[in-house]
Amino acid sequence: MSGKLVIGNWKMNTRSESAQALVAALLADPATNRDGVGVAAPAVYLAQVARQLEGGRIALASQDVSRYDADGAFTGETSAAMLADVGCRYALVGHSERRQYFAESNEALLRKMRNALAAGVTPVLCVGETLEQREGGQYLEVIRQQLAILAEIADGEYVVAYEPVWAIGTGKVASLEQIAEMHAFIKNWCLQNAGSSANIRVLYGGSVKAENAEAILATKNVDGALVGGASLSADSFRVICQAAGKLI
Ligand code: 13P
Repeated sequence: MSGKLVIGNWKMNTRSESAQALVAALLADPATNRDGVGVAAPAVYLAQVARQLEGGRIALASQDVSRYDADGAFTGETSAAMLADVGCRYALVGHSERRQYFAESNEALLRKMRNALAAGVTPVLCVGETLEQREGGQYLEVIRQQLAILAEIADGEYVVAYEPVWAIGTGKVASLEQIAEMHAFIKNWCLQNAGSSANIRVLYGGSVKAENAEAILATKNVDGALVGGASLSADSFRVICQAAGKLI
């Protein structure tokens, strides 16, 4: 495990044509067309993006995965096996927007993690506290509760993304001290409770931009970034990926 991992989370953005243009720009640039860079495209465009990425080095990620594991009557769902089938290497699990708008519980998230792992797709478990929880001093406890499902997973490679809810899409970035404290906390928790996952990667997400990427990525225990808004522009995403590429 070496090098930082940067994944662009496009969320519910792009259209067929703009997704194609964005991927074309990323493929044309050695700063982004390399190992350790990924894009999480909307489900409806995954197959299109997968075809375009063929022969390149950028990894494909999904923004979610179904909690149901077998094919069947689950209208609207996308299974882990389907994601693997179109070539997804990663699946985001438990993004705060999904926790907030779709009331995803730890129980559902554990099923999603297990389904992704069983299909050979690396889950990226997203955790993060709200502003209220941070200001109330409960932030470590909140993250501990969100991490708890990792203790239920016997084996398999996964990634954790720390995304403070108050820093997502707000332009407010957590301070380097806050990031360092939380990333150390997450790594220690995993070491003590999630056994074989001592090599776990912990990404930071929340208003990562071209201007702040290098300082964030150079912070201790930050193994990469999950980038929202700034990943929709090839120019800003490339600067972030370039900063990551300079660091081990
Ligand atoms: P922004 O980078 O737009 O703040 O979004 C972060 C995020 O939620 C990535 O998953």
